[in-house]
Amino acid sequence: MCGIIVYSGHRPAVPLTMDCLRRLEYRGYDSAGIAYIQQNKLQVIRSRGKLDQLEEKIGQHDVYHATTAIGHTRWATHGLPTETNAHPHTDNNKELALVHNGIIENFQEIRNSLEQRGYVFYSETDTETILLLISDKYKHIREKANSEDEAIARALSQALQEVEGSYALALINLNSPNEIWGARHSSPLILGAGTGENFIASDIPAFLPYTKDVVFLEDGELAKITANGWEVYDASSLNRIDKQINRIDWNVQSAQKGGYKHFMLKEIMEQPQVIKDCMAGRIDSANQRVILPELDHVSVPEQVHIVACGTSYHAGLWAKYIFESWSRVPVHIDIASEFRYRDNIFRENDLVLAITQSGETADTLAGLRIAREQNVPVVGLCNVMGSSVARESDGVIYTQAGPEISVASTKAMCSQMAAFLLLALYWGESKGTLSTEFLQNSIQDFISLPGILNSELARMQESGQEFAAKYSRSRSFFFLGRGINYPLALEGALKLKEISYIHAEGYAAGEMKHGPIALIDPEFPTLAIAPHDDLYTKLISNLQEVKARSGPVIGLTHPGSDLNLEDKWEIPKMWSALNSFLILPALQLFAYEMAVYLGKDVDQPRNLAKSVTVE
Ligand code: M6R
Repeated sequence: MCGIIVYSGHRPAVPLTMDCLRRLEYRGYDSAGIAYIQQNKLQVIRSRGKLDQLEEKIGQHDVYHATTAIGHTRWATHGLPTETNAHPHTDNNKELALVHNGIIENFQEIRNSLEQRGYVFYSETDTETILLLISDKYKHIREKANSEDEAIARALSQALQEVEGSYALALINLNSPNEIWGARHSSPLILGAGTGENFIASDIPAFLPYTKDVVFLEDGELAKITANGWEVYDASSLNRIDKQINRIDWNVQSAQKGGYKHFMLKEIMEQPQVIKDCMAGRIDSANQRVILPELDHVSVPEQVHIVACGTSYHAGLWAKYIFESWSRVPVHIDIASEFRYRDNIFRENDLVLAITQSGETADTLAGLRIAREQNVPVVGLCNVMGSSVARESDGVIYTQAGPEISVASTKAMCSQMAAFLLLALYWGESKGTLSTEFLQNSIQDFISLPGILNSELARMQESGQEFAAKYSRSRSFFFLGRGINYPLALEGALKLKEISYIHAEGYAAGEMKHGPIALIDPEFPTLAIAPHDDLYTKLISNLQEVKARSGPVIGLTHPGSDLNLEDKWEIPKMWSALNSFLILPALQLFAYEMAVYLGKDVDQPRNLAKSVTVE
C-alpha cells in the first residue's frame, strides 16, 4: 500500500529516487511524486497515473543538483487518485514536505481543528492532516529550540502523539535540507545504511542495488538520515536507540525481471528453485528426516489456528489437509480480517500460525497480536526477513522465496506449501503418526520435485496459452476441486480474477449442486482440477452434472485419465500432496496467459497493491 523512498547522499537524488520508486511501484501505482530541495527552494513534482507519467514531468525540470529527496507511489485510501491528492504534500509555508503510507483514523477531527486555526487544506487526504499538524507544532517549537534538528524532532514527536491509526512517513525540511526524518507505526519502514549515502524505504528491494545493510525500524521509532549518518530515536522521549545493522542476502537480480516480460512470469518460473531454497538446510538426507531448528523451542501443538489473507489463506487451507492427515493435528483456519473480530477459543498447547508473504498485512498482524495478548504462542510463516510478523512472532519459519514483486502472488504460495509439507512431516515424525516408509518416500519425492517441475513449466505455459486463447471471451469461470485441490481451486479463481478481471469463483466440487450450478450454461466454463487421486471418481460425477447442463469443462488431469472431455490438460503425476506443486503453476500460467492475451497490466492490476498494510 503506497511505497516510500527517502535518499540523502552524494548522487543526484531525483533520478536515484525514481530508480528506487520503480522497485516500489508494485505497492501502489495510481499516482506518484517526489520532493527535493534545490536552489533553496522546496520543489515538488507530482503526477497521477504510473511512474512513466511522473518521469515525463520530471524531464521538464533541471533536477540534477539535489542530493536529498523523498518519493512516493500511491494506492489511494482517502481521496481520488488525482494529482492534488498525490504525495508529497507540502505545508502552507512551503517549508515541509511529507509522504505517508497508512491511514490516520482521527484525521477529520484534527483537520477541523487546524482549519479553525486558519490552515488551508488542498487535498482530500488524511496525510495532509499529519503534515499540517507537524507544521503547527514546528512553528511554535522553532522559536525556542536550539537547532532545526531539535525543532523538527520535537514537532514530529508531539504531532505523532495526537495521531491515531497507522503510518510510515518521511519528512523533508527546507530549513535543514540535508536531513530527512522517518517515523513508523503499524506500517513498514526500513533504513538502508550505505557509504556516503543513506536510505529509508517501505521495502528492501527499493534500495537493494545500493546497499544490503538494513536497520529494521520498530513502531514508535523516529529515524533521521543524512548523507553521512543515521540515527534512531524513541518517538516519545526522543532518547537515542542503539540499533543493529542486518546484512540482507537477497541479490539484486532477484528483484529484477531478468529477461522475462513480467515479474509474474519470472516468479512462476522460479518455483523449482523456490522449492529447493525452502528445503535448503531443512532435510537431513542421511537420516531421511526433516529438521526445523527454528522450531526447536516450540512443541507440537494440540491444535493449530491458522490466520492469513488472500493467497496465503489458500496456502493455509491447503496445509489443513496435510496437518490433519499426516500429523493428526486439528486445524482451525480463519481469514485474518474475520479472526481479529471473532471470539476465538484457545486451549492450552494451541498454536497460532500467521502466514504472510510480506509479513506486513495489517489484518494478519492484528490476529497475531490478539493471540499473543492471550498468551497463545505464534509462529510466523513469512518471506520477508525482519518484517513485522517475523519480529513479533515467538518463532519464524522463513519461506526463503526471495523478493516477490508481482502483485499477484505466485512463488510465495509455492514456498508456503513447501514449508508446510516439511512441517507436516516434522510434526508427524515427532508424534509418531507417520511410518518410516512414508517419511522416506515423501522426502525422496520432494527432493526430485524441482527437477520434474522445471522440465514441465515450458509445456505448461504453452497449454496455458492455448486454453487462455480459446476461453478468452468468457465472462465468468468456475474452478472446481475436491479435498486438497479445493484450496487450489480457490487460488486459481483468485489469480484469474485479479489479473484478467474475468469473474471467477472457486468451489468445492461437491458444493456445486447446492446452488452455484444454476449459473452453468454453454457460455460459463469450468476448470476442473482432476488429478488421479482418491477423490477422482467423486469429482467425475460432479463434472457430469456440469456437462449435463452444457457447461464447457477444461480438465486438469494426469496422463491416462479417462476424463471424457474435449479439453484435457495433462500434467505429470506425482505422489500424494506433491501433485499440488504441479497443479498450482498450471493455474497460475492459465491466469497469466489470459491476462496477457487480453492485454491487461499483469504485474500491476487495477485497484490492488502488493502489501495491504491497512485494515
Ligand atoms: O503478504 P501477504 O501474504 O500477507 O498478502 C496476503 C494477500 O494480500 C495476498 O496474498 C493477495 O491476496 C495477493 N494479491 C494474491 O495474489
